[in-house]
Amino acid sequence: MADKLGISRTAIWKHINGLRKMGYEIESHPHNGYRFVASTDLLVPEEITQSIGNCTIGKRISYHAEVTSTQDIASKLARDGAEEGTCVIAEKQTSGRGRKGRNWVSPFKDGIYISIILRPNLKPVHIIQIPLVAGVAMVKAIEQTTKLTPGIKWPNDIFIDGRKVAGILTEVNCDIDTVHYVILGIGININTDIDTLPEEVKGIATSLSQECGHNVSRAKFTGQLLIEMGKVYTEYVTNGFASLGKQWTDHNITLGSKVKVNDGQSEILGTAIEIDDDGFLIIETQDGQKQRIISADVSLQIKE
Ligand code: BTN
Repeated sequence: MADKLGISRTAIWKHINGLRKMGYEIESHPHNGYRFVASTDLLVPEEITQSIGNCTIGKRISYHAEVTSTQDIASKLARDGAEEGTCVIAEKQTSGRGRKGRNWVSPFKDGIYISIILRPNLKPVHIIQIPLVAGVAMVKAIEQTTKLTPGIKWPNDIFIDGRKVAGILTEVNCDIDTVHYVILGIGININTDIDTLPEEVKGIATSLSQECGHNVSRAKFTGQLLIEMGKVYTEYVTNGFASLGKQWTDHNITLGSKVKVNDGQSEILGTAIEIDDDGFLIIETQDGQKQRIISADVSLQIKE
């Protein structure tokens, strides 16, 4: 190896140790040299970029062992002018956040915590479409990498067998009529042992490993997610939301269900009947009135 690469044996040894520190498993034999045994389980950018080709989402990856929240790092990068598609990935978040000010528990190496900088040419009123588009990418990535059948609960929770496996947080920088950038935060429980989660989420959460019965490669999944996100996002910016609406509907678990909608001020009971061309949820209340839901927590009651 030293001859081939034109460097000293000591330099080779230093590089091998560097790779071992990154989690690569490499054996060494006194006479035979080194043998590559297994790849790292860390989400190092090299492991991801090799699978995504020239996909626009993930062309640049800012990788961290530990952050407060990937949203914080991505916001700073976006403010400083980072290009669309830049991703921030961390192995652990100390203050991961979810929707409505909730906490997103983010232990080291268990899940995927990623924030993507997007710069769509959109009116602020249409921002709801971004997490819906991301939901389609998420279910496709899960379907491509496992045998599971995930579903989307409006607007953007991903469920498997009645339990939440992933969530999306959309933070926006805009003025009254222009969106400057969107930070799309995605959290997925990959190899999370559900028993280690806080009591309040244990009963309602799941992970891919829990559902599959074996561990899932986080690097492979991340690559697939970025590929799917690149495809659906390109389709969205080219053809608009209507062309993705059908894919969203095909994967949703909300329509046709009795729902309880809580917008933080009041609670409405009704049946979810459609998402309109803008991505808003239409429900029919018990007295037969149709209501357009723009932003709320929706809990599913019984499927009709
Ligand atoms: C939710 O369902 O409430 C949304 C959860 C979003 C969590 C992700 S993890 C990566 C990014 N960084 C954060 O702090 N939150 C999002």
